[in-house]
Amino acid sequence: GYTAEPFVPERGGLPALRRAAAGCRGCPLHRDATQTVFGAGDADARVMLVGEQPGDQEDRQGRPFVGPAGKLLDRALAEAGIDPGEAYVTNAVKHFKFTRAEPGKRRIHKAPTLREMTACGPWLAAELAVVEPELIVLLGASAGKALLGSSFRVTQVRGTVLEEEIHGRRERLVPTVHPSSVLRADDRESAYDGLLSDLKVAARLLA
Ligand code: URA
Ligand code: SF4
Repeated sequence: GYTAEPFVPERGGLPALRRAAAGCRGCPLHRDATQTVFGAGDADARVMLVGEQPGDQEDRQGRPFVGPAGKLLDRALAEAGIDPGEAYVTNAVKHFKFTRAEPGKRRIHKAPTLREMTACGPWLAAELAVVEPELIVLLGASAGKALLGSSFRVTQVRGTVLEEEIHGRRERLVPTVHPSSVLRADDRESAYDGLLSDLKVAARLLA
C-alpha cells in the first residue's frame, strides 16, 4: 500500500523532516499538487494543531493555514488566549487534493481517503515525536480519524479532553470542528462560538 515511511529520516529534527517531506512520493497526491505543505512552528511548541490537508492557498504558498480557514483559526486562537507562537500547526495529509469542475477552472478541495491519511501518517508521527506537545487540538473529522481511527465522531467528543495512546505515546487531545466548517455554516456566528468554546478548553489546559 501507499506509505510515506521510506521517505521519513530518523534524525535531524524538524528541518530534516521538512526537507525530506518536500520529496515525498508516498502516495499519488504529490502528482497534481504544487508542493508539500509541511507543519509550521517551533520544535518546543506546547500545543499541536492538526488540520486535514492544505487548501488552495496553502498549496501555492507552501505553508499550512494561510488561507481563509487559517485566518479564522488565528482569530479564534487569539480570542481563546492561545499564543500562535506556542502552537505548531500541521495537517493529517501534506499535499492538496482537489478536483476541477471543468478544465482550467477553480480547484475544489476533495477530502482525503483513509488510505491517503494512513499513507501520510508517518510524517505526523515524526512531527509528534519531535515536538512532543503537551496537547493536541484536532481540527475536524479527518484529523480525528487520522490519529484516533475511523470510528472517530467529532460531534460526540468536541470540546472534551481525551487521553489516548498514539504511536506509543500517551497523548492529551481536544477535538473541535474544522475552521472551514465555520465558514460554510448557515449560522456562522454560532458555529464560530462553538469553535471558540472548544479552543478555550484547550487554552485552560495550557494555562
Ligand atoms: N485546511 C486545513 O485543514 N489545513 C490547512 O492548512 C488549510 C485549510
Ligand atoms: Fe507523501 Fe503525504 Fe504527499 Fe502522499 S500526501 S505524497 S504520503 S507527503
